[in-house]
Amino acid sequence: MINDSKIVVALDFPTEAAALELTAKLSPEECKLKVGKELFTRAGRGIVEKLVADGFDLFLDLKYHDIPNTVAHACAAAADLGVWMVNVHASGGRKMMEAAAEIFAKRGESPLLIAVTVLTSMDQSDLTEIGLEIDPAQQVSRLATLAQSSGMDGVVCSPLEIELLRNELNRDFKLITPGIRPAGSATGDQKRVMTPADAVKMGSDWLVIGRPITQAPDPVAALHSINSSLKN
Ligand code: C5P
Repeated sequence: MINDSKIVVALDFPTEAAALELTAKLSPEECKLKVGKELFTRAGRGIVEKLVADGFDLFLDLKYHDIPNTVAHACAAAADLGVWMVNVHASGGRKMMEAAAEIFAKRGESPLLIAVTVLTSMDQSDLTEIGLEIDPAQQVSRLATLAQSSGMDGVVCSPLEIELLRNELNRDFKLITPGIRPAGSATGDQKRVMTPADAVKMGSDWLVIGRPITQAPDPVAALHSINSSLKN
């Protein structure tokens, strides 16, 4: 890990140029970065390699979900890019997660391996429709426990799930939380939000923050303000 900032800036941009215009103003000492499916599909591995070469800790958020062999080798390919964190869907099951964890164990130094539990866009009726007659919180807890016992380093979760998961999982199991909004900022399409300071107080290890920084009139000032709210 290159820096101890808890902020992971989500680079949700449609073009490489727009993403690099922002990252040119950011310092690897002050934040980490997240590249997701849109930017990766448009810009490819080149942007990942560039940002890693620029010194950033990079979370490659591609949420792998496939047969164990395919996911394990995709994770190894991500590790070869030098990323700091990579993720898979816990609903791919124990064998899939263990295959990814095993391939990392054989490599020695590897990225953090994180699982996604239930997408926060899914509610009870969405789960029922795919055949899961279970309360979303129970499913989050079941998949997080499975992720931990399958060798994952942590999970992505809503800040409102931190308390539930901290009670059930080891203290060193990492919790990465999107859905973060500094007091007074627009919530956009995020329905269940928490401030950065509250999420850290509850036990979040890293905060994924997009629009409150990327769409701010002064993104660097917005990042500084969040970083200092965490120091107080
Ligand atoms: O702009 P905003 O701060 O809402 O961005 C949050 C980021 O976290 C986006 O990249 C989004 O895809 C991601 N994310 C999320 N909720 C999840 C998982 C990921 O908002 N459950």
